[in-house]
Amino acid sequence: MQSKSVNVLGIETSCDETAAAVVADGKIVKSSIIASQNKLHEKYGGVVPEIASRAHIEKIYPVIAEAIAQAGISKDDIDAIAVANQPGLTVALVVGVTAAKTLALAWDKRLIAINHLHAHLQSAMLAEENLQLPAVALIVSGGHTCLYDYRSPLEPNLLGSTIDDAAGEAFDKVAGILKLPYPGGPAIEKMAEKGNPKAIKFPRSMLGPDSLDFSFSGIKTAVLYYCRGQDMKGEDKVDSMSEQEIADIAASFQAAVIDVLVKKTQRAVEKIGAETVLLGGGVAANNELRCALQKMCDSAVPQKKLLVAPKQYCTDNAVMVASLAYYKHQAGLFADLTLEPKAK
Ligand code: KG4
Ligand code: ZN
Repeated sequence: MQSKSVNVLGIETSCDETAAAVVADGKIVKSSIIASQNKLHEKYGGVVPEIASRAHIEKIYPVIAEAIAQAGISKDDIDAIAVANQPGLTVALVVGVTAAKTLALAWDKRLIAINHLHAHLQSAMLAEENLQLPAVALIVSGGHTCLYDYRSPLEPNLLGSTIDDAAGEAFDKVAGILKLPYPGGPAIEKMAEKGNPKAIKFPRSMLGPDSLDFSFSGIKTAVLYYCRGQDMKGEDKVDSMSEQEIADIAASFQAAVIDVLVKKTQRAVEKIGAETVLLGGGVAANNELRCALQKMCDSAVPQKKLLVAPKQYCTDNAVMVASLAYYKHQAGLFADLTLEPKAK
C-alpha cells in the first residue's frame, strides 16, 4: 500500500514578504503565495521594521487562506504547520509565529520551527533526488551571507559568515548610492548588463588566506568614496554621471562581490572535499553569480555539481519553509506552543 503523503503548510514572515505555501513530501509544491512589501519600503531605501510588521498583520491570514485554497485541500488535509521563527526581524517574525501557533492550537496540528537560513538552503534541494555529499552551501541574502558544510537537511554546519554587511545589503546600499531603485540587487544586475566589469578595480576583501568569513562593508565604502570623493566633502558626482559611467560602477561592484563569493566557496569546497555546491538566498537570483559559480564547479578537478534554487524560490518564500519542515516531521522534531521568534 502506498503511504499517505505529508502536507505541510509553511509560513514565512521574517523580513518583508508575507508568504504561505503547501508542499507535499518536501518536494511537491501545491501552492505558493507571496505578498511582497517592496512598494511600502521603496521610498525609505530599506526595510522599516514597524511598517513590515503592520503589513504582515494585515496580510497573514488572507495569504494563508489563499495558499490552502490554491493547493486544493482543506485544513483537515494539513499534517503540520511550519513557521520560520529565526533569524529575522523580531517584530516581523512574531506575526508568522503567532499565526502558526494559533492555527496549530485551533486546528489541532503539529507545529514545526524552521530556521530561515536553513530553509533558503533547502530551496536549492527542491528538485534534487540524488545529492552527492558532502556539499558546500552558499546562502546569500539581504540579511546574511553564510557558507555551510551540508551533510543532511537537518544539520548544516556553519563554516563562515559575514563579519559586517551581507552581500544583498551591499547591493541594496550601493544601489542607494547610485540612485537606483529598491531592492538594489535586481536594479544593479540590470544596470551592470550595460557596463564594463573591469572599468574600476574595487577591493576584494578576503580576510586572510584561510578565512571562510566575508566582509562587504569595504567595497560599499569604496563605491561611496568613488562617487563622493575620499573626504566625502566633494559634490555627489552621481547626478552628473552618464548612464554608461553608472553602469560601469554597477558592473565593477557586482564583479568584485561575485569574485569574493566564488573564491570563498571554492576555499570551502577544497576544505571539506565537497562533491556538490548548493546556492540559495535572494542574491542567488543574480545571473552573473550563477554563471560564475557554475564555471568554478566545471573547472574544479574533479568537477563539482552545482544545485541552484529556482529563481522564484531564491528570494523569501514559504515553499522552502514547508519543504524543510517535511524532514523535521519525518524525524519527529516538533515545536510546542511556547515557540518564540528569535532575531539571531
Ligand atoms: O533572501 P531575501 O529575499 O531576503 C533575506 O532573507 O534577506 O534576499 C533579498 C536580497 C536583497 O538584498 C536583494 O537586493 C537581493 O536579495 N537580490 C539580488 C537579486 N535579487 C534579489 N541581488 C543581486 N542580484 C539579484 N538579481
Ligand atoms: Zn531570506
